[in-house]
Amino acid sequence: MMMMTGSLVMGLGGLQLGIMAACVVLFVPMGMAGWHLSRNKILFFGAALFITLAVGVHLSPYFPSVSDFISSPASSSTASSSIDLSCFSLLHRILWFNNTSSSSWRWDSSSPVSDCGFQRVGPSDTSDLLNGSWVLFAGDSQARLVALSLLTLVIDSDKIDSVRADLFKRHSDYHVLVAESGLKLDFIWAPYVANLTELVGKLEDGTSYPDVLVMGSGLWDMLHIHNASDYGASLSSIRTALASSLAFITGDNGPVTGTTSIRSPHRFWIGMPWLVNSMLNTEEKREKLSGVAFHEYDREIQESRILRQSGGPFALLDIRSLCQGCGETCTADGMHYEGAVYDAAVQVLLNALLIESHQRI
Ligand SMILES: *[C@@H]1O[C@H](CO)[C@@H](O)[C@H](O)[C@H]1NC(C)=O
Ligand SMILES: *[C@@H]1O[C@H](CO)[C@@H](O)[C@H](O)[C@H]1NC(C)=O
Ligand SMILES: *[C@@H]1O[C@H](CO)[C@@H](O)[C@H](O)[C@H]1NC(C)=O
Ligand SMILES: *[C@@H]1O[C@H](CO)[C@@H](O)[C@H](O)[C@H]1NC(C)=O
Ligand SMILES: *[C@@H]1O[C@H](CO)[C@@H](O)[C@H](O)[C@H]1NC(C)=O
Repeated sequence: MMMMTGSLVMGLGGLQLGIMAACVVLFVPMGMAGWHLSRNKILFFGAALFITLAVGVHLSPYFPSVSDFISSPASSSTASSSIDLSCFSLLHRILWFNNTSSSSWRWDSSSPVSDCGFQRVGPSDTSDLLNGSWVLFAGDSQARLVALSLLTLVIDSDKIDSVRADLFKRHSDYHVLVAESGLKLDFIWAPYVANLTELVGKLEDGTSYPDVLVMGSGLWDMLHIHNASDYGASLSSIRTALASSLAFITGDNGPVTGTTSIRSPHRFWIGMPWLVNSMLNTEEKREKLSGVAFHEYDREIQESRILRQSGGPFALLDIRSLCQGCGETCTADGMHYEGAVYDAAVQVLLNALLIESHQRI
């Protein structure tokens, strides 16, 4: 937080500095209020970042209207929501750098991406952000790899090898409570979309609900069932189950209303990876996981409208575009990629949480 503010200060003049200080004074109490009202710290942390975003994104281009901004917080929050929604769509604007030993990435540093102030959330900020939260992952090996990337941020590096061993016990669930931050993380092995449908049904019937729900599957359906319309039907039933519940959050249909804050989970859909057909390791995979099949399955995802961009409940973690950015050198089997891809996915998720949570204050 201090570092971010520091770099902003360097880019601004003295007048701006004064205005910035005024805004920090204005918004810190707002942030604290958000903290007391919320069940966990996600909201508080969002408020803290909101200060920076408000200064970085909203104020610097609009100095003449600063006094309006300060005297009418209601209108400013509308403005910030629209800016955030546009930032949401820029979260995957990532540049990749090939390196003989490993790949690295950073967000595009040109406008408009740079105006969003995305940043890598480090281990201690991640622990703060997710303190006391329940994060539920469900899906196939892609979901498992994203879960592992998140765990490497919140678990000591000397313990991560044993976590990895447990998490990768073939085809099993994994549960962990990180004592230091009170983060509860579950991974549910759910390779088929039918498994996700069942899980969503159980969650909707149950009394407790994860704060962050991250799910996705598709490759097993494509390989072993190979019927895209069945896949689409299951996706639609997930959407229906969520839409009929209290917890449904509207996508582009306007701001969240008071009642939904009772239970306002953050939901992410893990997209399928980019498949490099010639590298797939069995003949059956090369045949069934073809480009044609991939597009049929992908079309079902669009048409079932489970994604936020089509009014659905899930924000997309676009694994495919991350894989493509990293390139063929980042995969050995044409479907599982090196850690950098899933680290980027986790950073997209964490930045999305920051955007979402301050919208809800
Ligand atoms: C390549 O990666 C290595 C290890 O990650 C790093 O030390 C080195 O600086 C990188 N080189 C470039 C040109 O990015
Ligand atoms: C998490 O929150 C609890 C209580 O709110 C606090 O005692 C603890 O220090 C926090 N842990 C971290 C890592 O922030
Ligand atoms: C997932 O779904 C498949 C197909 O419906 C079923 O055979 C399998 O038992 C389920 N697996 C789990 C872990 O629920
Ligand atoms: C897919 O499944 C549906 C029934 O769920 C069936 O009507 C249809 O013929 C199947 N399509 C293919 C290509 O097998
Ligand atoms: C990285 O390597 C991949 C595969 O070799 C290539 O397709 C991609 O264009 C490269 N990216 C950059 C930024 O050089």
